[in-house]
Amino acid sequence: MISQKTVQEIIETAKIEEVVGDFVSLKRAGVNLKGLCPFHNEKTPSFVVSPSKNLCKCFGCGKGGDPIQFIREHENMSYPEALRFLANKYGIKVEETETSEEQRQERQLADSLYIVNEFALKHFQEQLLETDYGKSIGLGYFKERGFRQEIIKKFGLGFTPNTRQDFKTKALNAGYKEEHLSKLGLVSKAGNDFFRNRVMFTIHSLTGKVVGFAGRILVKGTKAPKYLNSPESEIYNKSKTLYGAYFAKTAIRKNDECIMVEGYTDVLSLHQAGIEHVVASSGTSLTEGQIRLIKRYTPNMKFIYDGDAAGIKAALRGLDLVLEQDMNVKVVLLPEGEDPDSYLKKVGTTVFKEYIDKEAKDFILFKTQLLLEEAAGDPIKKANLIKDIVESIAKIPDPIKRSVFVKECSTVMDVEEQILVNEVNKIFNRNIQKKRLQKSAKINQSLQALAEDVQGIEVPFPTEEEFSTKTIVSKPSRSGNEFQEKDIIRLLLEFGEELMDKEEALTVAHYILANVEEVVEDFENPVYKKIALECYELLGQEKAVARQHFIQHQDEEIKQTTLNLLSSPYEYSPNWEKIHDQPLQTQKKPEDNFINDTLSSVNRFKLKSIIKLCAQNQERIKEAFSEGDEIKGFQLMKVQQVLNEKRKIMAEQLGGTVVLK
Ligand code: UTP
Ligand code: MN
Repeated sequence: MISQKTVQEIIETAKIEEVVGDFVSLKRAGVNLKGLCPFHNEKTPSFVVSPSKNLCKCFGCGKGGDPIQFIREHENMSYPEALRFLANKYGIKVEETETSEEQRQERQLADSLYIVNEFALKHFQEQLLETDYGKSIGLGYFKERGFRQEIIKKFGLGFTPNTRQDFKTKALNAGYKEEHLSKLGLVSKAGNDFFRNRVMFTIHSLTGKVVGFAGRILVKGTKAPKYLNSPESEIYNKSKTLYGAYFAKTAIRKNDECIMVEGYTDVLSLHQAGIEHVVASSGTSLTEGQIRLIKRYTPNMKFIYDGDAAGIKAALRGLDLVLEQDMNVKVVLLPEGEDPDSYLKKVGTTVFKEYIDKEAKDFILFKTQLLLEEAAGDPIKKANLIKDIVESIAKIPDPIKRSVFVKECSTVMDVEEQILVNEVNKIFNRNIQKKRLQKSAKINQSLQALAEDVQGIEVPFPTEEEFSTKTIVSKPSRSGNEFQEKDIIRLLLEFGEELMDKEEALTVAHYILANVEEVVEDFENPVYKKIALECYELLGQEKAVARQHFIQHQDEEIKQTTLNLLSSPYEYSPNWEKIHDQPLQTQKKPEDNFINDTLSSVNRFKLKSIIKLCAQNQERIKEAFSEGDEIKGFQLMKVQQVLNEKRKIMAEQLGGTVVLK
C-alpha cells in the first residue's frame, strides 16, 4: 500500500496541464488550455484543461477528472498504478506502508527483473544502432523491410551479433546477477547468450515495461526456429500479453476497434502507416486473458488473416472463444500469398485501409460462406457444416445477437430458420447444463470431503424426530439474502482497498471475495451480482477494488447502485434483528468498524452455504433410505451431524442463534 503521505504529496504536486500535456497537445484558450480529446475521435478541440481547478474535461464525451483520474482513464491503470506513474513523473519517492516480507521480496524481484530487461534492451539497441556490424546486418535488414528510424526506436528494435557470451559478460560486469539473466531467458541453460545473430523485437507490458523479447533469425536455410521468444517469468505472463498493446491502446479506444494480426512485423508495418490500433498474439493462439485485455478498451475485434493461410479453418475455431466473451468479431482475408505487412507495402495505406474496411466480414457469416463453398454438392458435409455453425452461434451470450445470426445464416445456408433456432437452443441449453453439472460436482466434492472427515465418528442412532427434515432445513428468506448481499457489496465498495490484516497485506476485498466465491453465482440481486463478479475480475487483473471504478462505471445501474450504497448513511435492515434473532454487533460508525463488519458479514455468508449443504444432504438422506440403502443413509447422517455442528458454531460466533423454520 502507498502511504497516505505519498498520496497527498502526489495530489499536491501533479499539475493537470503537465500530466495531460504529455499525451495531448494543448493550446491556450483564455485562462484554460484546449486540445483534441484523447478519449474520442474529434476534429475540433473540446477537451478543456483548467490549471486553476487542476481538472480536465471533455465537453464532447464528458470524460475527465483530476490528474490521477486522467492517468487512470487514459492509461487504463488501477489507482495505485496511476499513483506510481505520477510519482515517477515528478520524482516523488513512494513510501509504502508495511507489507509482508514475502510481498516485499516479490516486488523487489520483479523490479530487478525489469531493470535487467531494460539493460538488455539498451544493449540490443546499441548493437543495432552503434556497431558497424549491427548497422550493416541488423539495421540494413530493417531498412530493407522499410522500417523507419522512428518506429525502430519507438518499438525498441535491436540486434544481437553471433558472439557466445558478449551480452552475459557485459551484464555481469555491470553488476547484474546471473540468476536473473537465466530467469529472464537472456542466458541459456548452457550459460551462453540465448539470442544470437538475430534481429530483436521488444515485448512490452500494457504499461510499457519490458517483459520479454523475440529474436528473428536472419540467415536462411538453418534448422533453427525463425523466432526465438523469451520464456515466461515472474514478469512475463504470455497468456495476458499482446505484442504492441502498449502502443495501440489509445488508438484502440479511439477507433473503438482492435485489429489482430499474426506477426510482429505486421504490427510494425501497420503502425508505421498510421494504423495504430493493432496488436499480435505473438506466436501463441489467442487466450481468454488476451481477449479480456482487449475488452477493457473495445468490444470490437477485426482479425486479418494471410491470404494463403492453410490453417484458416483451425484459426476460425479459436474465434469461438472470442464470441463467448461477447465480443463482435470481424474477419478479413487478404489476397492469396499476402500478409498484412507485404500487402500494405504493395498497395499503399489508402488502398489497404479501404480493403480491410470493405472486405471485413462478420465472423459467423464468413465461416458459413467458407464452409459452404467447401461443402458444395455434398449433403453430409453440409449437415456437418450446419452443426459447426450452430455451435458457434450458441456461444454468443447475447440472445438478440444470436437470433440475428440465426436469421442471416438460414438465408445464406438455405436452411429453414426454425430448424436452426431449435438446434441453437438445444446446444445453448446443453452448455448451461454442463456448467450446472460442474457446479454441482463441486458441491458433491465438498460433501464427500466432509464424509471422509467424519469416518469413524460414533453417532447415536437417530430418533424418528431427529430424522424429520423440518427440524433441520432452513431457508433464509428473500429479504434476508438480499440484505446480506447488499451488506457485502457495501463493504466491498466502501472498504475494498483497506487492509484487513496489516501483516499479510490482505485487503478487505480479497478477504470477502475469497470467502463468498462459492455462493456468488446465487446472488439474488442481479446488480450486486454484477458488481461482485466484476470485483473478481479486478483482482484477477491485480487491480484494486476501488470505489472510484464503480462510481464512474459505464453501466448506469452499477454506477447508481454504488452511489446509493456509498452515500446513504449506513443502516441496518429493519428486519435484520427479527430474521436473525441477534443483537446488532456494531454501535460505532461503520468506518470505525469495517473489520468487524466484514468478518461477521462473511460469516453470515458462510453460514448460508452451510445451510444449503444441510438441505442438500438432507435430501440425500431421504433418498438413501427410500432406496433401502441404510448404510449410506447412516453415513450421510453422520455428515449431517458435522454440518449441524459447524452451523451451530458459526451461528454462535455471529452472536446469536439461527432461527429454523
Ligand atoms: P511469420 O512466419 O508470418 O513471421 O509468423 P512474420 O512475423 O510475418 O515475419 P517476417 O515477415 O517473415 O519477417 C507469424 C508470427 O508467428 C510467430 C511470431 O509471432 C511471428 O510474428 N512465430 C513464427 C514464432 O513465434 N516462432 C516461429 O518460429 C515462427
Ligand atoms: Mn511477414
